[in-house]
Amino acid sequence: MTDIMWDAEIYEKAADAKTLASSAAVPSLADPRQLRNTLGNFATGVVVLTYRSGDSYYGVTVNSFTSVSMDPPLVLVSIQRTSRSLTYLLERPFTVNVLGDNQLDTALHFAGKPQAHPVEWVTDGLAPRINGSLAYFECTPWAGYDGGDHVLVLGRVMNYGQQDDTRPLLFYRGRWSALAEESDDTAQDRAQGERNRT
Ligand SMILES: Cc1cc2nc3c(=O)[nH]c(=O)nc-3n(C[C@H](O)[C@H](O)[C@H](O)COP(=O)(O)O)c2cc1C
Repeated sequence: MTDIMWDAEIYEKAADAKTLASSAAVPSLADPRQLRNTLGNFATGVVVLTYRSGDSYYGVTVNSFTSVSMDPPLVLVSIQRTSRSLTYLLERPFTVNVLGDNQLDTALHFAGKPQAHPVEWVTDGLAPRINGSLAYFECTPWAGYDGGDHVLVLGRVMNYGQQDDTRPLLFYRGRWSALAEESDDTAQDRAQGERNRT
């Protein structure tokens, strides 16, 4: 509670000190599209949360994924209250599949745009996962918190893995993106930097 009060005080002080942008430059908070567009400047990766219900496997595409804690190991996603997945994610194990830049079809499929080629499931863990993903985290539900028109779902990581030969799928300003290819020169500079540090 004390921490929360402290945060609020900081915000008040910042506003008093006019450290925030002048009101003329502040866009109207009444325009959700403008706010969403501006939030889209924060580039993210893309994950699909997958879970089992009966004999079937389901997923939902999400970019609100973030790591939260190492001890215990916790991750967070923010899920729309209207999402069909929400109740499942709060009550059963799920896998966070971090998508590679060759998995755009998968991202679209689980964002409500069914694609022709079904995903290949791996079913030997706590929850189903998508074969070929860049990384995965198998989670059990830890907590759900009010997040306005979303619910913040925390998962406790029980198992995880990654593959090194894949690059991430990115989402930026409402568009899919990928990392720029690293030139040989840049890679060599970086390798040299690493050597100098050690
Ligand atoms: C790039 C991208 C990111 C998304 N991120 C989220 C998110 O963080 N939280 C969320 O609830 N929905 C997110 N969505 C929307 C869901 O994928 C979409 O509403 C989905 O159809 C919900 O499926 P469900 O109702 O079966 O759970 C995102 C969609 C895209 C394309």
